[in-house]
Amino acid sequence: MREFKYTDCFDKYDRIMQFNKNKKTYIHGWYPFVEGYSKEFINSILSELDYIPQHCLEPFSGSGTTALELQKNNIKCSSFEVNPFMFSLARSKLRTDYTVRSLKKHLNSIERALEDVVPEIETVYPPPIYKSMMQRDSLDKWIFNLETMRGLLDIKFAIDGVNDNKYRQLFKISLASLLLEISNVYRNGKCLSYKKGWKKINEIQRGNVHELFVEKIENVILPDIKEINKYKRAEGKLFSNHNFCHLGDCKEKISLLEDGAVDLVITSPPYLNSRDYTDTYMIELWMLDLINDYNELRDLRRKTFKSHVQVAWGNMPLLSIKELSDAIEKLEPHKDKFWNKNLLEMIKGYFLDMDILFSKLKRKMKSNGKVYLNVANSAYYGVEIEVDKIISTIAETHEFEVEEIRKARKIKPSSQQKEQIPFLLEVVIVMRKK
Ligand SMILES: C[S@@+](CC[C@H](N)C(=O)[O-])C[C@H]1O[C@@H](n2cnc3c(N)ncnc32)[C@H](O)[C@@H]1O
Repeated sequence: MREFKYTDCFDKYDRIMQFNKNKKTYIHGWYPFVEGYSKEFINSILSELDYIPQHCLEPFSGSGTTALELQKNNIKCSSFEVNPFMFSLARSKLRTDYTVRSLKKHLNSIERALEDVVPEIETVYPPPIYKSMMQRDSLDKWIFNLETMRGLLDIKFAIDGVNDNKYRQLFKISLASLLLEISNVYRNGKCLSYKKGWKKINEIQRGNVHELFVEKIENVILPDIKEINKYKRAEGKLFSNHNFCHLGDCKEKISLLEDGAVDLVITSPPYLNSRDYTDTYMIELWMLDLINDYNELRDLRRKTFKSHVQVAWGNMPLLSIKELSDAIEKLEPHKDKFWNKNLLEMIKGYFLDMDILFSKLKRKMKSNGKVYLNVANSAYYGVEIEVDKIISTIAETHEFEVEEIRKARKIKPSSQQKEQIPFLLEVVIVMRKK
Protein backbone atom coordinates (compact mmCIF):
# COMPACT_ATOMS: atom_id res chain seq x y z
CA MET A 1 0.00 0.00 0.00
CA ARG A 2 1.27 3.46 -0.90
CA GLU A 3 2.31 5.56 2.12
CA PHE A 4 1.69 9.23 1.46
CA LYS A 5 3.91 11.90 2.91
CA TYR A 6 2.10 14.08 5.47
CA THR A 7 3.48 17.49 6.43
CA ASP A 8 2.45 19.59 9.39
CA CYS A 9 1.13 22.90 8.02
CA PHE A 10 -1.26 23.77 10.84
CA ASP A 11 0.51 27.07 11.54
CA LYS A 12 0.64 28.08 7.89
CA TYR A 13 -2.96 27.22 7.03
CA ASP A 14 -4.98 27.44 10.21
CA ARG A 15 -6.47 30.88 9.60
CA ILE A 16 -6.26 31.19 5.84
CA MET A 17 -8.43 28.17 5.06
CA GLN A 18 -11.50 30.10 6.18
CA PHE A 19 -13.44 32.58 4.09
CA ASN A 20 -13.89 34.70 7.23
CA LYS A 21 -10.67 36.53 6.45
CA ASN A 22 -12.24 37.73 3.17
CA LYS A 23 -15.27 39.23 4.84
CA LYS A 24 -14.20 42.84 4.52
CA THR A 25 -11.88 42.40 1.57
CA TYR A 26 -12.08 44.17 -1.78
CA ILE A 27 -14.82 42.42 -3.85
CA HIS A 28 -14.44 39.10 -1.96
CA GLY A 29 -16.53 40.72 0.79
CA TRP A 30 -19.62 41.24 -1.37
CA TYR A 31 -21.09 38.01 -0.08
CA PRO A 32 -19.98 36.12 3.05
CA PHE A 33 -19.53 32.60 1.70
CA VAL A 34 -18.69 30.39 4.68
CA GLU A 35 -17.73 27.34 2.63
CA GLY A 36 -14.95 29.23 0.86
CA TYR A 37 -11.28 29.73 1.59
CA SER A 38 -9.44 33.04 1.78
CA LYS A 39 -7.54 34.97 -0.86
CA GLU A 40 -4.40 34.43 1.23
CA PHE A 41 -4.62 30.73 0.44
CA ILE A 42 -4.41 31.50 -3.28
CA ASN A 43 -1.53 33.93 -2.78
CA SER A 44 0.38 31.47 -0.62
CA ILE A 45 0.25 29.00 -3.53
CA LEU A 46 1.34 31.59 -6.08
CA SER A 47 4.31 32.54 -3.94
CA GLU A 48 5.61 28.96 -3.67
CA LEU A 49 5.25 27.96 -7.34
CA ASP A 50 8.50 27.77 -9.30
CA TYR A 51 6.73 28.75 -12.53
CA ILE A 52 4.32 31.50 -13.61
CA PRO A 53 0.99 29.81 -14.31
CA GLN A 54 -0.67 30.61 -17.62
CA HIS A 55 -3.98 28.85 -17.18
CA CYS A 56 -5.50 27.71 -13.90
CA LEU A 57 -8.59 25.56 -13.50
CA GLU A 58 -11.05 25.80 -10.60
CA PRO A 59 -13.63 23.01 -11.08
CA PHE A 60 -15.69 24.00 -7.99
CA SER A 61 -15.86 27.77 -8.19
CA GLY A 62 -18.20 28.47 -5.27
CA SER A 63 -18.13 32.21 -4.64
CA GLY A 64 -15.27 32.60 -7.10
CA THR A 65 -12.37 33.16 -4.67
CA THR A 66 -9.79 31.39 -6.87
CA ALA A 67 -10.73 33.06 -10.16
CA LEU A 68 -11.03 36.50 -8.55
CA GLU A 69 -7.69 36.41 -6.77
CA LEU A 70 -5.93 35.04 -9.86
CA GLN A 71 -7.54 37.76 -11.97
CA LYS A 72 -6.00 40.36 -9.68
CA ASN A 73 -2.68 38.68 -10.46
CA ASN A 74 -3.44 38.74 -14.23
CA ILE A 75 -3.70 34.94 -14.39
CA LYS A 76 -6.33 33.24 -16.51
CA CYS A 77 -8.61 30.92 -14.57
CA SER A 78 -11.34 28.76 -16.07
CA SER A 79 -13.93 27.94 -13.46
CA PHE A 80 -17.08 25.84 -13.23
CA GLU A 81 -19.96 25.98 -10.83
CA VAL A 82 -23.11 23.89 -10.88
CA ASN A 83 -25.22 26.02 -8.53
CA PRO A 84 -26.74 29.00 -10.38
CA PHE A 85 -26.59 31.18 -7.28
CA MET A 86 -22.84 30.72 -6.69
CA PHE A 87 -22.34 31.00 -10.44
CA SER A 88 -24.05 34.38 -10.70
CA LEU A 89 -22.27 35.53 -7.52
CA ALA A 90 -18.87 34.63 -8.96
CA ARG A 91 -19.67 36.13 -12.37
CA SER A 92 -20.77 39.42 -10.83
CA LYS A 93 -17.58 39.57 -8.74
CA LEU A 94 -15.38 38.86 -11.76
CA ARG A 95 -16.64 41.75 -13.91
CA THR A 96 -14.31 44.71 -14.22
CA ASP A 97 -16.53 46.91 -16.40
CA TYR A 98 -18.71 48.58 -13.77
CA THR A 99 -18.62 52.35 -13.50
CA VAL A 100 -19.40 54.51 -10.48
CA ARG A 101 -21.57 56.74 -12.66
CA SER A 102 -23.80 53.94 -13.94
CA LEU A 103 -24.07 52.29 -10.54
CA LYS A 104 -25.24 55.56 -8.98
CA LYS A 105 -27.65 56.21 -11.84
CA HIS A 106 -29.29 52.78 -11.49
CA LEU A 107 -29.33 52.97 -7.71
CA ASN A 108 -31.13 56.33 -7.96
CA SER A 109 -33.77 54.80 -10.20
CA ILE A 110 -34.27 51.98 -7.68
CA GLU A 111 -34.56 54.45 -4.80
CA ARG A 112 -37.15 56.44 -6.74
CA ALA A 113 -39.16 53.27 -7.40
CA LEU A 114 -39.03 52.42 -3.69
CA GLU A 115 -40.66 55.75 -2.79
CA ASP A 116 -43.92 54.62 -4.33
CA VAL A 117 -44.59 50.95 -3.64
CA VAL A 118 -47.68 48.81 -4.30
CA PRO A 119 -49.35 48.27 -0.86
CA GLU A 120 -49.95 44.50 -1.11
CA ILE A 121 -47.19 43.83 -3.58
CA GLU A 122 -47.36 40.05 -3.05
CA THR A 123 -50.73 40.01 -4.84
CA VAL A 124 -49.33 41.46 -8.07
CA TYR A 125 -45.67 40.35 -7.81
CA PRO A 126 -45.83 36.96 -6.11
CA PRO A 127 -43.10 35.51 -3.89
CA PRO A 128 -41.53 32.14 -4.81
CA ILE A 129 -43.87 29.15 -4.66
CA TYR A 130 -41.68 27.51 -1.97
CA LYS A 131 -44.20 26.67 0.71
CA SER A 132 -42.82 28.34 3.83
CA MET A 133 -41.03 31.27 2.19
CA MET A 134 -43.56 33.87 3.38
CA GLN A 135 -45.75 34.24 6.45
CA ARG A 136 -49.30 32.99 5.82
CA ASP A 137 -52.19 32.16 8.16
CA SER A 138 -52.03 28.51 7.15
CA LEU A 139 -48.40 28.11 8.31
CA ASP A 140 -46.79 27.56 11.73
CA LYS A 141 -43.35 28.47 10.51
CA TRP A 142 -42.16 30.78 7.78
CA ILE A 143 -38.82 32.08 6.58
CA PHE A 144 -39.78 35.73 6.00
CA ASN A 145 -42.36 37.75 7.87
CA LEU A 146 -44.92 39.38 5.60
CA GLU A 147 -43.58 42.93 5.93
CA THR A 148 -40.02 41.78 5.37
CA MET A 149 -41.07 39.88 2.26
CA ARG A 150 -42.91 42.95 0.98
CA GLY A 151 -39.71 44.95 1.35
CA LEU A 152 -37.82 42.29 -0.59
CA LEU A 153 -40.42 42.10 -3.33
CA ASP A 154 -40.37 45.92 -3.68
CA ILE A 155 -36.62 45.76 -4.28
CA LYS A 156 -36.87 42.84 -6.71
CA PHE A 157 -39.56 44.67 -8.64
CA ALA A 158 -37.44 47.84 -8.75
CA ILE A 159 -34.39 45.84 -9.90
CA ASP A 160 -36.44 44.39 -12.78
CA GLY A 161 -36.79 47.95 -14.04
CA VAL A 162 -32.99 48.42 -14.38
CA ASN A 163 -32.26 48.32 -18.09
CA ASP A 164 -28.72 46.93 -17.89
CA ASN A 165 -28.30 43.21 -17.14
CA LYS A 166 -24.88 43.54 -15.51
CA TYR A 167 -26.20 45.99 -12.89
CA ARG A 168 -29.39 43.97 -12.47
CA GLN A 169 -27.23 40.98 -11.55
CA LEU A 170 -25.09 43.07 -9.22
CA PHE A 171 -28.18 44.38 -7.42
CA LYS A 172 -29.58 40.87 -7.11
CA ILE A 173 -26.36 39.66 -5.52
CA SER A 174 -26.46 42.58 -3.10
CA LEU A 175 -30.02 41.67 -2.22
CA ALA A 176 -29.01 38.04 -1.76
CA SER A 177 -26.34 39.06 0.74
CA LEU A 178 -29.08 40.43 3.05
CA LEU A 179 -31.49 37.53 2.85
CA LEU A 180 -30.28 35.29 5.63
CA GLU A 181 -29.75 38.11 8.09
CA ILE A 182 -33.34 39.40 7.76
CA SER A 183 -34.94 35.95 7.63
CA ASN A 184 -36.12 33.79 10.53
CA VAL A 185 -33.52 31.10 9.81
CA TYR A 186 -29.76 30.57 9.90
CA ARG A 187 -27.42 28.15 8.17
CA ASN A 188 -26.86 25.33 10.61
CA GLY A 189 -24.29 23.06 8.94
CA LYS A 190 -26.30 20.75 6.74
CA CYS A 191 -29.58 22.62 6.91
CA LEU A 192 -31.45 25.83 7.66
CA SER A 193 -32.77 26.08 11.23
CA TYR A 194 -35.07 28.60 12.82
CA LYS A 195 -33.38 31.28 14.94
CA LYS A 196 -33.98 30.97 18.66
CA GLY A 197 -37.18 32.80 19.65
CA TRP A 198 -37.68 33.90 16.04
CA LYS A 199 -41.36 34.72 16.54
CA LYS A 200 -40.47 37.26 19.21
CA ILE A 201 -37.60 38.92 17.33
CA ASN A 202 -38.54 42.43 16.22
CA GLU A 203 -40.04 42.25 12.77
CA ILE A 204 -37.97 43.89 10.07
CA GLN A 205 -40.25 46.42 8.48
CA ARG A 206 -40.61 47.03 4.81
CA GLY A 207 -38.78 50.37 4.90
CA ASN A 208 -35.88 48.83 6.90
CA VAL A 209 -35.34 46.27 4.17
CA HIS A 210 -35.08 49.08 1.61
CA GLU A 211 -32.59 50.94 3.81
CA LEU A 212 -30.43 47.87 4.37
CA PHE A 213 -30.27 47.26 0.64
CA VAL A 214 -29.27 50.84 -0.20
CA GLU A 215 -26.68 50.83 2.63
CA LYS A 216 -25.17 47.61 1.29
CA ILE A 217 -24.70 49.18 -2.14
CA GLU A 218 -23.37 52.46 -0.77
CA ASN A 219 -21.09 51.04 1.92
CA VAL A 220 -19.81 47.80 0.38
CA ILE A 221 -20.29 47.72 -3.39
CA LEU A 222 -19.76 51.35 -4.33
CA PRO A 223 -16.36 51.77 -2.60
CA ASP A 224 -15.07 48.69 -4.42
CA ILE A 225 -16.33 49.93 -7.77
CA LYS A 226 -14.56 53.22 -7.09
CA GLU A 227 -11.40 51.16 -6.58
CA ILE A 228 -11.98 49.24 -9.82
CA ASN A 229 -12.37 52.53 -11.68
CA LYS A 230 -9.21 53.89 -10.04
CA TYR A 231 -7.17 50.84 -11.07
CA LYS A 232 -8.59 51.09 -14.56
CA ARG A 233 -7.53 54.71 -14.87
CA ALA A 234 -4.05 53.77 -13.68
CA GLU A 235 -3.58 50.54 -15.63
CA GLY A 236 -5.92 50.79 -18.63
CA LYS A 237 -8.05 47.69 -19.26
CA LEU A 238 -8.24 45.30 -16.31
CA PHE A 239 -7.89 41.57 -16.88
CA SER A 240 -11.07 39.61 -16.14
CA ASN A 241 -11.87 35.93 -15.67
CA HIS A 242 -15.58 36.66 -16.08
CA ASN A 243 -15.93 34.99 -19.48
CA PHE A 244 -14.03 31.90 -18.31
CA CYS A 245 -16.53 31.17 -15.53
CA HIS A 246 -19.11 28.59 -16.68
CA LEU A 247 -22.33 27.20 -15.28
CA GLY A 248 -22.65 23.42 -15.02
CA ASP A 249 -21.26 20.14 -13.77
CA CYS A 250 -17.46 20.33 -13.91
CA LYS A 251 -17.23 16.66 -14.96
CA GLU A 252 -19.06 17.59 -18.17
CA LYS A 253 -17.93 21.17 -18.66
CA ILE A 254 -14.24 20.35 -18.39
CA SER A 255 -14.51 19.19 -22.02
CA LEU A 256 -14.70 22.90 -22.99
CA LEU A 257 -10.99 23.22 -22.20
CA GLU A 258 -8.25 22.48 -24.68
CA ASP A 259 -6.19 19.36 -24.02
CA GLY A 260 -2.91 20.11 -22.25
CA ALA A 261 -3.85 23.75 -21.59
CA VAL A 262 -4.09 23.78 -17.78
CA ASP A 263 -0.91 24.19 -15.74
CA LEU A 264 -2.43 24.75 -12.29
CA VAL A 265 -5.51 23.61 -10.37
CA ILE A 266 -6.58 25.24 -7.11
CA THR A 267 -9.79 23.94 -5.70
CA SER A 268 -11.90 22.73 -2.84
CA PRO A 269 -14.58 20.20 -3.81
CA PRO A 270 -17.69 19.68 -1.71
CA TYR A 271 -16.65 17.71 1.38
CA LEU A 272 -18.12 14.26 1.96
CA ASN A 273 -20.26 15.67 4.76
CA SER A 274 -23.77 15.21 3.33
CA ARG A 275 -24.17 18.96 3.02
CA ASP A 276 -26.34 19.85 0.06
CA TYR A 277 -25.64 23.36 -1.22
CA THR A 278 -28.99 23.41 -3.04
CA ASP A 279 -30.56 23.06 0.41
CA THR A 280 -28.45 25.45 2.44
CA TYR A 281 -28.63 28.10 -0.32
CA MET A 282 -32.26 27.47 -1.15
CA ILE A 283 -33.43 30.94 -0.01
CA GLU A 284 -31.03 32.60 -2.43
CA LEU A 285 -31.98 30.18 -5.25
CA TRP A 286 -35.72 30.72 -4.88
CA MET A 287 -35.68 34.43 -4.09
CA LEU A 288 -33.48 35.22 -7.08
CA ASP A 289 -35.76 33.11 -9.34
CA LEU A 290 -32.86 30.78 -10.12
CA ILE A 291 -35.12 27.89 -9.13
CA ASN A 292 -38.79 28.26 -9.98
CA ASP A 293 -40.28 24.87 -9.23
CA TYR A 294 -39.48 21.55 -7.57
CA ASN A 295 -38.57 19.85 -10.88
CA GLU A 296 -35.82 22.40 -11.46
CA LEU A 297 -34.57 21.80 -7.93
CA ARG A 298 -34.47 18.03 -8.47
CA ASP A 299 -32.62 18.44 -11.79
CA LEU A 300 -30.05 20.70 -10.17
CA ARG A 301 -29.45 18.27 -7.31
CA ARG A 302 -28.81 15.47 -9.78
CA LYS A 303 -25.99 17.46 -11.36
CA THR A 304 -24.18 18.14 -8.09
CA PHE A 305 -21.27 16.06 -6.82
CA LYS A 306 -22.49 13.05 -4.85
CA SER A 307 -21.64 14.52 -1.47
CA HIS A 308 -25.18 14.48 -0.06
CA VAL A 309 -28.20 12.21 0.29
CA GLN A 310 -30.91 14.45 -1.16
CA VAL A 311 -30.93 12.26 -4.25
CA ALA A 312 -31.40 8.48 -4.23
CA TRP A 313 -28.24 7.78 -6.21
CA GLY A 314 -29.11 4.13 -6.88
CA ASN A 315 -26.68 1.23 -6.65
CA MET A 316 -23.15 2.49 -7.04
CA PRO A 317 -20.16 0.31 -7.90
CA LEU A 318 -17.34 0.36 -5.35
CA LEU A 319 -13.93 1.59 -6.48
CA SER A 320 -11.26 -0.86 -5.52
CA ILE A 321 -9.32 1.17 -2.96
CA LYS A 322 -8.46 -0.41 0.37
CA GLU A 323 -9.27 2.58 2.62
CA LEU A 324 -12.64 2.90 0.88
CA SER A 325 -13.65 -0.75 1.00
CA ASP A 326 -12.52 -0.98 4.66
CA ALA A 327 -14.71 2.00 5.58
CA ILE A 328 -17.72 0.63 3.70
CA GLU A 329 -17.26 -2.75 5.38
CA LYS A 330 -17.17 -1.10 8.82
CA LEU A 331 -20.27 0.92 8.05
CA GLU A 332 -22.37 -1.99 6.75
CA PRO A 333 -23.29 -3.31 10.24
CA HIS A 334 -24.76 0.11 11.13
CA LYS A 335 -27.07 0.06 8.10
CA ASP A 336 -30.25 -0.43 10.10
CA LYS A 337 -29.53 2.74 12.09
CA PHE A 338 -28.69 4.96 9.11
CA TRP A 339 -30.51 8.30 9.28
CA ASN A 340 -30.72 8.07 5.51
CA LYS A 341 -30.71 4.93 3.43
CA ASN A 342 -28.65 6.57 0.65
CA LEU A 343 -25.58 7.05 2.84
CA LEU A 344 -23.42 4.19 1.52
CA GLU A 345 -24.29 4.97 -2.10
CA MET A 346 -23.36 8.61 -1.49
CA ILE A 347 -19.92 7.59 -0.20
CA LYS A 348 -19.28 5.24 -3.11
CA GLY A 349 -20.70 7.79 -5.58
CA TYR A 350 -18.53 10.62 -4.23
CA PHE A 351 -15.34 8.75 -5.08
CA LEU A 352 -16.71 7.61 -8.43
CA ASP A 353 -17.32 11.28 -9.26
CA MET A 354 -13.76 12.08 -8.17
CA ASP A 355 -12.50 9.29 -10.40
CA ILE A 356 -14.38 10.67 -13.43
CA LEU A 357 -13.06 14.15 -12.73
CA PHE A 358 -9.42 13.03 -12.49
CA SER A 359 -9.77 10.80 -15.56
CA LYS A 360 -10.76 13.89 -17.55
CA LEU A 361 -8.44 16.30 -15.80
CA LYS A 362 -5.36 14.31 -16.81
CA ARG A 363 -6.00 15.13 -20.48
CA LYS A 364 -6.44 18.82 -19.80
CA MET A 365 -3.25 19.26 -17.78
CA LYS A 366 0.26 20.06 -18.87
CA SER A 367 2.98 17.79 -17.67
CA ASN A 368 4.46 19.08 -14.37
CA GLY A 369 1.41 21.26 -13.68
CA LYS A 370 0.45 21.36 -10.00
CA VAL A 371 -2.84 20.61 -8.25
CA TYR A 372 -3.76 22.00 -4.83
CA LEU A 373 -6.87 20.32 -3.51
CA ASN A 374 -8.36 21.33 -0.18
CA VAL A 375 -10.63 18.72 1.41
CA ALA A 376 -11.42 17.14 4.78
CA ASN A 377 -11.98 13.65 6.08
CA SER A 378 -15.44 12.58 7.20
CA ALA A 379 -16.95 10.27 9.78
CA TYR A 380 -20.21 8.38 10.09
CA TYR A 381 -21.17 6.06 12.96
CA GLY A 382 -17.69 6.25 14.43
CA VAL A 383 -16.09 5.18 11.13
CA GLU A 384 -13.62 7.61 9.63
CA ILE A 385 -13.56 7.97 5.86
CA GLU A 386 -10.00 8.83 4.89
CA VAL A 387 -11.01 11.09 2.05
CA ASP A 388 -7.46 12.47 1.77
CA LYS A 389 -5.88 9.05 1.10
CA ILE A 390 -8.70 7.84 -1.14
CA ILE A 391 -8.60 10.93 -3.39
CA SER A 392 -4.79 10.72 -3.48
CA THR A 393 -5.00 7.08 -4.57
CA ILE A 394 -7.55 7.92 -7.28
CA ALA A 395 -5.36 10.76 -8.58
CA GLU A 396 -2.32 8.48 -8.79
CA THR A 397 -4.23 6.08 -11.05
CA HIS A 398 -4.65 8.99 -13.49
CA GLU A 399 -1.06 10.10 -14.06
CA PHE A 400 -0.77 12.39 -11.03
CA GLU A 401 1.89 12.07 -8.38
CA VAL A 402 0.96 13.10 -4.85
CA GLU A 403 3.92 15.10 -3.52
CA GLU A 404 2.55 15.67 -0.05
CA ILE A 405 -0.62 15.87 1.99
CA ARG A 406 -0.46 19.03 4.06
CA LYS A 407 -2.26 18.94 7.38
CA ALA A 408 -4.16 22.22 7.47
CA ARG A 409 -6.69 22.15 10.30
CA LYS A 410 -8.36 19.89 12.80
CA ILE A 411 -12.11 19.96 12.30
CA LYS A 412 -14.57 19.11 15.06
CA PRO A 413 -16.66 16.09 14.15
CA SER A 414 -20.37 16.06 14.99
CA SER A 415 -21.23 15.48 18.67
CA GLN A 416 -22.14 11.81 17.99
CA GLN A 417 -18.65 11.07 16.59
CA LYS A 418 -16.58 13.01 19.12
CA GLU A 419 -15.94 10.15 21.51
CA GLN A 420 -14.44 7.83 18.93
CA ILE A 421 -12.93 10.46 16.63
CA PRO A 422 -11.54 13.52 18.43
CA PHE A 423 -10.93 15.49 15.21
CA LEU A 424 -11.13 15.18 11.45
CA LEU A 425 -8.18 16.29 9.40
CA GLU A 426 -8.60 19.03 6.82
CA VAL A 427 -5.80 18.89 4.29
CA VAL A 428 -4.33 20.38 1.15
CA ILE A 429 -3.27 17.62 -1.23
CA VAL A 430 -0.41 18.78 -3.43
CA MET A 431 0.01 16.83 -6.67
CA ARG A 432 1.98 17.08 -9.86
CA LYS A 433 0.83 15.92 -13.26
CA LYS A 434 3.37 13.41 -14.53
C1 LIG B 1 -16.35 24.02 -1.09
S1 LIG B 1 -17.27 24.92 -2.26
C2 LIG B 1 -16.04 25.85 -3.10
C3 LIG B 1 -15.72 27.14 -2.41
C4 LIG B 1 -14.73 28.03 -3.11
N1 LIG B 1 -13.38 27.55 -3.00
C5 LIG B 1 -14.80 29.46 -2.57
O1 LIG B 1 -13.81 29.98 -1.97
O2 LIG B 1 -15.87 30.10 -2.69
C6 LIG B 1 -17.71 23.67 -3.43
C7 LIG B 1 -18.60 24.19 -4.58
O3 LIG B 1 -18.73 23.12 -5.52
C8 LIG B 1 -19.99 23.27 -6.15
N2 LIG B 1 -20.32 22.02 -6.87
C9 LIG B 1 -20.93 20.90 -6.40
N3 LIG B 1 -21.03 19.97 -7.37
C10 LIG B 1 -20.47 20.50 -8.49
C11 LIG B 1 -20.26 20.03 -9.81
N4 LIG B 1 -20.66 18.82 -10.18
N5 LIG B 1 -19.63 20.84 -10.70
C12 LIG B 1 -19.24 22.09 -10.33
N6 LIG B 1 -19.42 22.61 -9.10
C13 LIG B 1 -20.01 21.82 -8.17
C14 LIG B 1 -20.91 23.63 -5.00
O4 LIG B 1 -22.10 24.22 -5.47
C15 LIG B 1 -20.02 24.59 -4.21
O5 LIG B 1 -20.26 25.92 -4.58
